[in-house]
Amino acid sequence: MARLLVEKSPPLKGRVKVSGAKNSVLPIMAASLMSEGTVTIKEIPELEDVVVMKDVLGAIGSKVQQEDKGVVEITTPAIWSCEAPNDLVKRMRASFLVMGPLLAKKGKARMYMPGGCNIGVRPVDLHLKGFSALGTEITQERGYIEAKAKKLRGATIYLDFPSVGATENIMMAACLAEGQTVIENAAEEPEIVDLANFLNKMGARIKGAGTDTIRIEGVKQLGSAEHTVIPDRIEVGTFMIAAAITGGDIIIDNVIMDHVVSITAKLKEAGIEVMPYGSSVRVKGKECFKATDVKTLPYPGFPTDMQAPFMALMSVAKGNSVIIETVFENRFLHVEELKRMGAKIKIEGRSAIVEGVPRLTGAQVKATDLRAGAALVLAGLVAEGVSEISDVFHIDRGYERFEEKLKGLGAIITRVQ
Ligand code: EPZ
Repeated sequence: MARLLVEKSPPLKGRVKVSGAKNSVLPIMAASLMSEGTVTIKEIPELEDVVVMKDVLGAIGSKVQQEDKGVVEITTPAIWSCEAPNDLVKRMRASFLVMGPLLAKKGKARMYMPGGCNIGVRPVDLHLKGFSALGTEITQERGYIEAKAKKLRGATIYLDFPSVGATENIMMAACLAEGQTVIENAAEEPEIVDLANFLNKMGARIKGAGTDTIRIEGVKQLGSAEHTVIPDRIEVGTFMIAAAITGGDIIIDNVIMDHVVSITAKLKEAGIEVMPYGSSVRVKGKECFKATDVKTLPYPGFPTDMQAPFMALMSVAKGNSVIIETVFENRFLHVEELKRMGAKIKIEGRSAIVEGVPRLTGAQVKATDLRAGAALVLAGLVAEGVSEISDVFHIDRGYERFEEKLKGLGAIITRVQ
């Protein structure tokens, strides 16, 4: 299994371009199977999860062609299977995002109940609540979810939690339902807006994406579209922290600053200089920066996907910080790994109390999810000696050419098989 060897690196310097957003491209690819025409998606990152989604679409009947680098063309002349293969659903729970499009297009879908993962149980009850409200009959047996709907009819659906996936799945199904659907307490993430923009380009009639109330007027069919995926705001945040933690000075290109307001605010509170200009941002770290508290929340709050990278930063800040994780119930698995590197962290329920230490030391550590893996790499950049990070397949799921981009900024990092 591949490992990353990360050595204490000089302050990062230089320029790096952020890739398209993983959490935008996955629902957009799923939505593509609803098109009667051809869909061209640009700025697709080369990630393991994108490969899995391509395989899921292929198994359903879509033709997925890689055009130039980062450009994919998808046509779905006929859907010959309404079932996402088990092994793919097990590998990537986002495969569940094809359920809404399949219900919309074929009135049926069958797939293995997506499992939980290291960060939590991750139920899909809100997805199913929405599908039922639209007139779908759901049966769950032997670990499978089977959904059938003669005709999807618009409904008003309240989400008990502003779930990103549930908002996306219900929004996609509602596009071809009869009448109006209203999603209340909807997720407001930029990836929801990107998906809605893409669906509207295909002929959908969606209003309110990005707010807590989304209105969808059903249409008869969806056609061709061309779409460029938004930049990955979590990758932007990760590189901002790479500059901050090493006391470096880097420029990050392909950034929408409105998408990283909470991350920028927290870095500034810690004393890091964040200087946006156009679609780039310059981030200047400092020898010594302050501890600051963070609470993860649904967008526009501080993103849960930035919790682990931010904890790596706070591990070597001046002072103590409290990091509260409110979105997932088990997203502190990176704490034990950071402690092996000398971090001083105490968990109390949903809170982690981080006492900043003057230095970390390299150790053998394990990535427990993709953002935890990124956090360990960031910590390795400043830890004395060498850190060996295993299970890097997690990182490959969500960061395109991560070590190559870091090396380009002066990081001392190598991948060993
Ligand atoms: C998306 O996951 C992202 N994944 C996650 O990114 C991200 O952490 C998460 O949103 C929150 O922002 C993709 O977009 C592919 P949720 P998703 O449904 O949709 C509970 C990464 O690192 N919930 O908003 O699965 C759930 O248990 C990944 O890139 C229900 O209770 O997240 C969790 O506590 C990790 N019932 C909370 O809502 C449901 O039916 C947030 O989950 C659905 C969710």
